[in-house]
Amino acid sequence: MAKLVINDAKKQGYIAPEIYGQFSEHLSRGIYEGLFVREDSGIPNVNGMRTDVVEALKEIEVPVLRWPGGCFADEYHWKDGIGPKEKRKRMINTNWGGVIEDNSFGTHEFMELCRQIGCKTYVNGNLGSGTVQEMAEWVEYMTFEGVSPMADLRKENGHEKPWKVDYFGVGNENWGCGGNMTPEYYANLYRRYQTYVRQYHRDAPIQKICGGPNVDDLKWTKKVLKTCFAHPHPEGAHGFMDGLSLHYYVHPGGWQNKGSATDFTEEEWYTTMEKALYMEELIRLHGDVMDKYDPEKKIGLIVDEWGDWFDVEPGTNPGFLYQQNTMRDALVAAVSLNIFNRHCDRVKMACIAQMVNVLQSVILTEDERMLLTPTYHVFHMYRGHQGAELVESSLSVEGTVGVEGYEVPALQESVSVREDGTVLVTLANLSVREAYPVELMLTEKKPETVKAAILTGKMQAHNTFEEPDRVKEEEFQDVALTERGVRFTIPACSVVSLEIR
Ligand code: AHR
Repeated sequence: MAKLVINDAKKQGYIAPEIYGQFSEHLSRGIYEGLFVREDSGIPNVNGMRTDVVEALKEIEVPVLRWPGGCFADEYHWKDGIGPKEKRKRMINTNWGGVIEDNSFGTHEFMELCRQIGCKTYVNGNLGSGTVQEMAEWVEYMTFEGVSPMADLRKENGHEKPWKVDYFGVGNENWGCGGNMTPEYYANLYRRYQTYVRQYHRDAPIQKICGGPNVDDLKWTKKVLKTCFAHPHPEGAHGFMDGLSLHYYVHPGGWQNKGSATDFTEEEWYTTMEKALYMEELIRLHGDVMDKYDPEKKIGLIVDEWGDWFDVEPGTNPGFLYQQNTMRDALVAAVSLNIFNRHCDRVKMACIAQMVNVLQSVILTEDERMLLTPTYHVFHMYRGHQGAELVESSLSVEGTVGVEGYEVPALQESVSVREDGTVLVTLANLSVREAYPVELMLTEKKPETVKAAILTGKMQAHNTFEEPDRVKEEEFQDVALTERGVRFTIPACSVVSLEIR
């Protein structure tokens, strides 16, 4: 028996909607085919964006989309992706499969995609191989309203009004694919480049994201913050940045032996869970360093790449990072999002890698067909946390589950309250075999109704184009209201959401 006590009067902080963000890179079929099919395609589309995918993304209320990379960002020269499509430069995508990038999806197309999805824009600039002038001009092109060379060029290209850039990343993984820099070198470049990310809209400033650490590289965090944080910004009080990124991928056997996305053992299941839960430790570790410079938590930890990274599907290009998505991915998404919610005082954005057809995607496509992955359903079940207030919760359940060396808590949760008083509980059962009776109690609210949903299946269960609905969110009927809460049994290997009114 597990006990979940929710102190619904004890608010712990605002859950930024951006925690439910997405990331899409020029990588394989992530953008081309997955999102963008061109206007003359036989696949139904609006201005080239496939309708089925956009509609599905609207359902999960994607709050923000990061683009164009990833490693691609530090080789992307934005002027190659504007103007008449037939004149756009063709280049090699050196990072991802060495394929030809024809630049038919560029700034205008990205902004159109975000308009259709209804999400905020997160543009990642090129610090690794681009110039300061190039970055400055891109910002001017996108956001300046008046008369200027770049604003005029945008107008010539058919967009009169400036767009809103909500977030701008100054480089990506500059400790690795973005230039193999030392933290000191990057930090100095960051200070210089970010200076020219001009704020043309004082009432809606661009939030600047500084390139942060890989996994547990605390040295990077310390050195970059030392140089970049403690200097008053002429245009605001946040120093030179509004956020510091963190990248962390889960691969059960390490980089050399990531393992199959669909064919895995129970041992690999628990290894994966243990590694996913490590995210909490990473947030604490980097958060402690951030607290030294920024005790008031003015800047956010921006986990703008996270998720499972397994071997590519057999027979597919290793540079295309195409992987299937099972209940294991659903559980990783569920525990990761619960962790981000619980650390919403510091985590202000998180973008799963990557939205369509790449790594832990929410959607897979094959020509005109589309499927929603188990991970998609988790985002759907959790969407009510966006913009809600985290509340205190404590879960007691006996023992742990797992295999030797990889023991994990059986259940893991987060709870929030919306403005209208609805309590949203999201609970994950990490056990492959055990179901748990749960007694949920609210300290304040007297529950009147409960609406519950469940995602469950065997650990390797996944959707295919032939059977796209094998794993899907369903109504969870076996829940009973009690005097002070709700009683139910959470099946093995499942994710449950409860909306209590
Ligand atoms: O998401 C795939 C790649 O992983 C990104 O391009 C890079 O930033 C990271 O190493």
